[in-house]
Amino acid sequence: MSKVLIKNGRIFSAHDDYEADLFVVNGKIMAIGQGLEYSSDETIDAHGCYVLPGGIDAHTHMELPFMGTHSADDFETGTLAGLHGGTTSIIDFAIQTQGNTLQDCLNTWHEKAMKSVGDYAFHCAVTDFNEKTKKEIAGIIEGGITSFKTFMAYKGALMIDDKMMLGLMKEVRKCGGLVTVHAENGDMVDALVDQYKREGTLDPKYHALAHPPIAESEAANRFLDLAHQTDSGVYIVHTSARDTMTEVRKKFLRDQRVFVETCAQYLLLDDSVYDKPNFEGAKYVMSPPIRKKDDQEALWHGLQSGHVHTVATDHCPFNFCGQKDMGKDDFSKIPNGAAGVEHRMELIFSEGVRKGRITMNRFVEVMCTNPANIFGLHSKGSLAIGKDADIVIFDPNQKHTISAKTHHHNVDSSIYEGWEVTGKVRTVLSNGKIVINEGKADQVQKGQGQFVKRKPFNFAL
Ligand code: URP
Ligand code: ZN
Ligand code: ZN
Repeated sequence: MSKVLIKNGRIFSAHDDYEADLFVVNGKIMAIGQGLEYSSDETIDAHGCYVLPGGIDAHTHMELPFMGTHSADDFETGTLAGLHGGTTSIIDFAIQTQGNTLQDCLNTWHEKAMKSVGDYAFHCAVTDFNEKTKKEIAGIIEGGITSFKTFMAYKGALMIDDKMMLGLMKEVRKCGGLVTVHAENGDMVDALVDQYKREGTLDPKYHALAHPPIAESEAANRFLDLAHQTDSGVYIVHTSARDTMTEVRKKFLRDQRVFVETCAQYLLLDDSVYDKPNFEGAKYVMSPPIRKKDDQEALWHGLQSGHVHTVATDHCPFNFCGQKDMGKDDFSKIPNGAAGVEHRMELIFSEGVRKGRITMNRFVEVMCTNPANIFGLHSKGSLAIGKDADIVIFDPNQKHTISAKTHHHNVDSSIYEGWEVTGKVRTVLSNGKIVINEGKADQVQKGQGQFVKRKPFNFAL
């Protein structure tokens, strides 16, 4: 039996804030109370620190085959980077190859994830909805994969049309799952890419111009209408634009169940990054692209008002040398994506909580509790008796600077290079085991991460 006692911390949940001790037995939270006196194998003094639930990043792509290469973090390096930053669970996207079954793709992702050091779950991305795939949905939900990702962009590779979307929504609704979406109008994007290529404007910044906010808001609006028609619970990933938030707000007014995710980079960066010299803008090529400051404001307001429910990262790193430079002469060949899983918690704490944009309770809600509840990770997301002991001991005052020289992402650059952050993860427990202490991961073993079977979507949420 392993026992850990965490003393004198300040415990935060989505609603509460109190000083107490927390006792962990065999990977589960056994007791929370003041002055606990249990004998333990390890006692941690958390005086001066916050005690938080382990973070859940609901949007990552480890070892993703994409645009002629693979994202640079695999499940081992990516989840280890997550643990360093207090993210103890990820939900990665298992992406169907068109023509293959959903089960094929899940088998592939299970295999890749065997070496994971943090806990993981999968969204199943449906890129080819047909009679065969339809029959697989119920079994996949029973197997604990209860959300289905769709792409309205990346035509010819991942995109599905509205007819497939409707068919998928109906089946997923019937079986108790949730449909999620990458909302961008793929045809609009492709037409703009073609236009810029014809005009010979091929720098990274044209990637951003080829993915305008209206491509996102149009797709989100259409997706939400399809969801309304099929009475589906739905979730929009990586929301980046004010225009999209405007569409979403209209749907709340008709009482539609819609969950909205944004990502740290859309809250923190603005499109001036595409003006960097020496092809550096390529580091920020992702879809949707980094938007304007005004869009950032709309997303922060969404977090404040409750219209944005989760903050993820869309962690999908590519090396500047050897991967991003595949698009040196043509922005459309730059692999889309960037790293973020390690710094989500610290960045949003520093920029959100410390700067007074969101409360500490709201921080816990959007980083930990909401992703757990929306996606059916019911043993995670909050500190309560019987829950998994995924716990972060966080020093709210420690300052540090993000750099590719010191990060744990397996990639040669960082979109947050030089960013000064206040607040640092000190100790992390995953299922009751101390996995990170003062930046060291000595106890971590390859493959210790567990697949988390999720519960069906709760339509009462
Ligand atoms: O640019 C991005 N976002 N890359 C990863 C794939 C996706 O669209 O989420
Ligand atoms: Zn996407
Ligand atoms: Zn993504």
